[in-house]
Parts: sequence; C-alpha cells; structure tokens
Amino acid sequence: MTTTDHQRRHWDRMSHVLNITNRLFPHDRLARTATRALRLQPGQTVLDIGCGTGPNFPALHDALGPAGKIIAIDHSPGMLAKAHQRIQRHGWTNIELHQADISRENLGTARADAAIAAYAFSAMPDIPAATRNVHTALTPGGALFTYDIRQPDNAGAPLRLTYRLFTRTAGGDVLTALHDTFDTVTHIHRDGTETPPPDNPWHLMALARRHSST
Ligand SMILES: C[S@@+](CC[C@H](N)C(=O)[O-])C[C@H]1O[C@@H](n2cnc3c(N)ncnc32)[C@H](O)[C@@H]1O
Repeated sequence: MTTTDHQRRHWDRMSHVLNITNRLFPHDRLARTATRALRLQPGQTVLDIGCGTGPNFPALHDALGPAGKIIAIDHSPGMLAKAHQRIQRHGWTNIELHQADISRENLGTARADAAIAAYAFSAMPDIPAATRNVHTALTPGGALFTYDIRQPDNAGAPLRLTYRLFTRTAGGDVLTALHDTFDTVTHIHRDGTETPPPDNPWHLMALARRHSST
C-alpha cells in the first residue's frame, strides 16, 4: 500500500495547521536530542524524512554546519512550500528539498550518514516499506533517529479514530517496522542517552542502526 493523492492532499491542507502548531508547540528540543544521539558531525549528510514545514532544520543545521547537507523529503508540495519559505527566511544554502513518497520510492544512489524522522512514519500507509527505503539510503554504520506515535493494541477506539482522522492512514507500529528492518534498535531518553523501553507505549524515541557490514 502506498500514498494516495487523497493522502497527499490531506497533508497539503495540514501544512497550514502544522505551520502554526510548530510555532505554538515547537519540538526543537527533540530535534536537538536527535543530533546528540546521532552524534552528528560538521560536514555530514542527513536525511529528514517526512520533513513537513522543516521544524528540524535549525537543530540539524547547527550540528552539521555550513559544510554539511540536509536532504529533506516529503510527498506533500504544500509542506515543501512552507519548508522552502523557512529556508529562504534563514538564508540556508545546504538544504535540498525533494518531493517523494518514501514508502514507494527508494532514494536511488543518494547516501546519508544519518536520518531523522519526526512524527513521520506513523503518518504513512506502508511503514515497513518506508523504513526499508531509509535503511537502504544510509551508509553502512549509519543510524536513523525517530520520535513518533505508537498505537498500542489496548488503545481505546476514540483515540485510535482521532489518530486515524489526523493522519488519514490505518496506522501501524513504527517500533515493529524498525526492529524488522534495522540491525539494532535502542530506546533513547530525552537527554540523548540509551534507556530501557519506556512504560509509556504511546511515544517512541529510538535510534535504529545499520551495521557497518550490511
Ligand atoms: C505529522 S507530519 C510531521 C512533519 C514534521 N516532521 C514535523 O515534525 O512537524 C507527517 C509528515 O509526513 C509526510 N508524509 C506522509 N506520508 C509520506 C510519504 N509516504 N512519503 C513522504 N512523506 C510523507 C506528510 O506530508 C507530513 O509532512
């Protein structure tokens, strides 16, 4: 199952909403946790999967410096237009925007040292296909940091319905897809250190690594 025009149009409309909610409830702190957990270095290349309006860009840009590169991917032209405005406002020159359905398209020969996906996989109709495409685009030894929503089996029907209306997908378990795709998956605390699997099953913050030999 891959993204439909209907879902893409949904996220085009949502770009206006996210533009406002990203300002009211910024998750820049989580993006900075990601840069620490990924141990990003100046000059590296990072994928921002389902980048939306670009709320991760400031933290990524600070970590990578002007010599680094951010390859930001989203299937929604509306989201990418807002991300483009953000880039223009800041005068950044090292962020590439690509319109692509990551659950359908692999990224060709593009290779990155690391990837970040913020509340992105859970919005996709085929989460395993998306995580596989990200895995392929990482250099051996590279890692993906994701923070996202999970839908535990015991979630009440009203909550599940609300989430499905928000994302327009049936959802799926991001953590299971990470375990099935990557060589190691570790849970991460907000301070960027490893932690045992948390009690709260709703929010996932994890580092998934591609081994250097795969
Ligand atoms: C909940 S928003 C999160 C956006 C951003 N990462 C943030 O933290 O604000 C989910 C994003 O994933 C994008 N998306 C959903 N399915 C996608 C797909 N198959 N390929 C690429 N992007 C997708 C949507 O267009 C949307 O921008």
